[in-house]
Amino acid sequence: SLQLISERMRNRTGHYMGPEMLQSQFDALEIPDYGLHLEVTDSPEALIPKIRSWLQQTQLSQLGIVGLGVMGRNLALNALNHHVSVSVYNRKVAQENDLLDSFLSDCPDKNAQGFDEFEGFIKSLERPRKIVLMIKAGEAVDEVIEQLLEFLERGDILIDGGNSFYRDTERRYVHLLQKAVHFIGMGISGGAEGALYGPSMMPGGDRHSYDQVYPILSKIAAIDQHDQPCLNLMGPGGSGHFVKMIHNGIEYAEMQLLSEIYGLLRVAYNNEQIASIFDRWSASGSDSFLLQISSKILLKTDKAGKYIVDQILDVAGSKGTGNWAAQQALELNVPGGMINSAVEFRMLSGFKDSRLRYAENLKRRSDTHAFSDFELLQQAYDSARLINHHQGFEILAGASANHNWDLDLSEIARIWTQGCIIRSELMNALVDVFAKDISILDDKDMFKKIARSEAALKTVIQAGFSKDIAMPCFSNALNFWLAITSKNLATNLIQAQRDFFGNHGYKRRDSESDKLFNTDWE
Ligand code: 6PG
Repeated sequence: SLQLISERMRNRTGHYMGPEMLQSQFDALEIPDYGLHLEVTDSPEALIPKIRSWLQQTQLSQLGIVGLGVMGRNLALNALNHHVSVSVYNRKVAQENDLLDSFLSDCPDKNAQGFDEFEGFIKSLERPRKIVLMIKAGEAVDEVIEQLLEFLERGDILIDGGNSFYRDTERRYVHLLQKAVHFIGMGISGGAEGALYGPSMMPGGDRHSYDQVYPILSKIAAIDQHDQPCLNLMGPGGSGHFVKMIHNGIEYAEMQLLSEIYGLLRVAYNNEQIASIFDRWSASGSDSFLLQISSKILLKTDKAGKYIVDQILDVAGSKGTGNWAAQQALELNVPGGMINSAVEFRMLSGFKDSRLRYAENLKRRSDTHAFSDFELLQQAYDSARLINHHQGFEILAGASANHNWDLDLSEIARIWTQGCIIRSELMNALVDVFAKDISILDDKDMFKKIARSEAALKTVIQAGFSKDIAMPCFSNALNFWLAITSKNLATNLIQAQRDFFGNHGYKRRDSESDKLFNTDWE
């Protein structure tokens, strides 16, 4: 009280602030919204337990992370760097023995706690608990969920940050809901560096849980050009993981296009020359993360001065998300041919023994002339990328309609402008295209751009073929373009064949109705 403090002030000597100044201090006093508020009239017996429990509470971590692989570790460091207190869990098994210790010793002065058992880990977290699983997609996710469920409480929130299949996410969402635990399936893109400095995040689930994790996730996410986090709720259920899967599908085709260009150019140019072409494209409208890293990759040498890329076996791996994306396109009846071609080509590259065997028996006289029209090549590349993005976003639109997800394509493009693997100048432009609620091909400028590049696409594909280089993604882009802009396809013959052997019926050009006609063909 004013009276008590004035009295104390009167009793002290030699202090610059006299008791007469106290009233104005009291007048300006604001009750702080931080710290612990106690009644001074309470007895010490009543105060001490309150202080104790407050201290315990303040030591609880805001975020839990399960799995200290490269992505989990970097995500935890990212959170700590943004002043989010973190508890991490990693199992103690022979191969992963030092992950926990090395993580904790790398951040001694940060607000981190480490555990190799779930009970202590769960107890160390603020309620409702917010836990991100950063573990390999598949059965391991189910196993860890079951183990965690033993300790989780009503209202806690589990986030699966791995590349899980969206249907698994939907199953887990329902399963956890029955236990009153909320589940968010969140795609995270950006690789190890993204996880550390700001990934693009694609969560799916219910709004209530998302709102609770947003304050933390928004500190960790990449930031777009308008200072907004590359993060938003995609939609309900498995939609977040679906969006991430299509991101990866687009990523596959983007990588395949660059690989086809590299194949075409390396016939006559060295790595440095190709890298400098890529750099020029980056500086002239075609910039993307994948183009930039491809240039860096081409220039990287080992200690002996040999290019590393030249020493890498030509068998491309994959972890499954690209295959799922291609399968989903088929399931949804949306053409996703570029993704499919890219997936198949990786698969085909794996048949190394057969390739060697068949190549042995062939003597080709491939054209070895340099392909020197780099502007034309860039034009073809740009338009093939437009078609790739068109197909990818159309799959998203198809899924959104099919599942009632109400996906916001413009917002998805925005979230993909930073942090993720397919970030690019093009992606920035797509934010505005989709804001008009139209597809890429329905955008007049984009359509014109592809139309103007039709000849370039043909020339590039022909050049590849004349050098005996497979051009699956470029070809698919051109095939798609020719078909989607054709007034009259030759598919009438297919209808006739179907009717010939199966009596399936066909519609007639001279009839508006849906009526099916049959012919007695023989
Ligand atoms: C990302 C990537 C990443 C993906 C790898 C590997 O967005 O950060 O898409 O999530 O796991 O690219 O994928 P593949 O092994 O199938 O090439």
